[in-house]
Amino acid sequence: MRPRLCPVRFVAAFLLASVLRVAHAQQTIPLYEARKAQTLLRTQTACLGCHELDGDGGRSAPSLSTVGARRSAAYIRAMIEDPQRTLPGAAMPKPVLAVPVRELIIKFLSSGAKGADVPLAMTTATAPRTATTVAPNAPALYAKWCASCHGATGSGDGPDAKYQPIPPAKHSDGNAMSRRPDDSLYDVIATGGLNAARSPRMPAFGATLTPTEIRALVTQIRTLCRCQGPGWSRPGAAP
Ligand code: HEC
Ligand code: HEC
Repeated sequence: MRPRLCPVRFVAAFLLASVLRVAHAQQTIPLYEARKAQTLLRTQTACLGCHELDGDGGRSAPSLSTVGARRSAAYIRAMIEDPQRTLPGAAMPKPVLAVPVRELIIKFLSSGAKGADVPLAMTTATAPRTATTVAPNAPALYAKWCASCHGATGSGDGPDAKYQPIPPAKHSDGNAMSRRPDDSLYDVIATGGLNAARSPRMPAFGATLTPTEIRALVTQIRTLCRCQGPGWSRPGAAP
């Protein structure tokens, strides 16, 4: 005859299992949240414009699939909160994300992170950028921030172009670019593709580059397309 399950032991086992489950949940991320973070990364952010995650996304930046093995949770957070302060000179624009989205992405990417704690440059951070009278070097800005997707000459053929679900705009295409007023080019560069109902993988540079630098990039696009915006949109156009 099988002994009946002792109710006290049953309750004790149940409680132990719950405690273990809670302890486990503190180190990893619940599956539902992980799925939500993956979906946000793929469809609502520019991260995969440059980074690869589970085989999707650009290759010019380190893989996000394996970032937890390389980096500590603190470093991952610092990079996402302020890449320029964490690693001065890094070719990663400061992400423009709603706080709950940013926190979920940080939680997802740093879940189980066991990489080495990289000394953060935070403490030696450079002074906040101030307006300067020196004109920005537009070709250098374009080469650093745009060419990986749009190509060195704006032909839409940078090394990461083939990983974009929607191809990067061809800034050298006079036909297409002459239909865009300078203001719309400026807005897409400053606020990113998602805000302009374009590909979310086009990053927002408004938290990284100054208005003068963004205007210089608009001028650089005009140099590449050898074109101007529509007549009505040009400075001094008759109303
Ligand atoms: C325009 C390209 C670009 C975009 C967009 C971008 N990153 Fe990056 N990111 C980089 C580059 C380049 C580095 C490597 C910096 C270095 O180590 O020199 C980097 C580094 C990182 C690192 C540290 C990785 C490591 O192994 O050191 C994390 C974490 C990270 N990015 C997360 C994100 C997240 C999350 C997003 C979206 C919110 C994002 N990045 C958007 C280019 C980008
Ligand atoms: C990670 C890849 C990536 C990077 C880096 C990137 N872009 Fe883009 N960009 C795109 C994609 C993809 C599109 C196409 C969006 C669409 O048509 O839906 C786009 C579109 C644009 C557009 C809109 C063009 C139009 O047809 O109106 C402008 C302007 C632009 N990018 C400028 C820039 C500038 C300037 C930089 C550098 C400061 C830059 N981009 C960096 C991927 C990128």
